[in-house]
Amino acid sequence: MLKVLFVCLGNICRSPTAHGVFEHALAGSELAGRIEVDSAGTGAWHVGNPPDQRAQAEARCRGVDLSALRARQVRPADFEIYDYILAMDKQNLSDLKAMQPANSISRVELFLSYADSAHLSEVPDPYYGGEDGFREVFDLVEAASAGLLRHLDQRLKQ
Ligand code: 4NP
Repeated sequence: MLKVLFVCLGNICRSPTAHGVFEHALAGSELAGRIEVDSAGTGAWHVGNPPDQRAQAEARCRGVDLSALRARQVRPADFEIYDYILAMDKQNLSDLKAMQPANSISRVELFLSYADSAHLSEVPDPYYGGEDGFREVFDLVEAASAGLLRHLDQRLKQ
């Protein structure tokens, strides 16, 4: 079993979208049941809350239900549990690296490093913007999820 944790700032927009989209892709693949997925935020403001309504609406339009997800904050134990901790932006990445303990088993990386053709290296924070931002988040997350699934498929075949 491989374990993947998606991380953004609030865990109500980008990382729950990644969580839902990747789980959806996983469910329709040969790797179903072999990869465990969760998401978390570096910040604590939204702990216990469902994903932002705009993120849920964009995902719902595109066939992914985020309604059961609830925000939680990253914890030190995550670095002993997750094989991959994938950050949405460079600030999340540096916050994660600053809290990564010496005994960590995790690869801590930018999620978009798994997207073949993304024009960006970070998933832009959509929270203070309009609905277009949520569409872009979904597109980027979908591209990186496909690449991550291929990567994990290769890894599990080795
Ligand atoms: P996320 O978006 O990191 O993609 O979940 C944000 C959600 C909330 C806030 C910032 C970003 N906030 O400042 O409350």
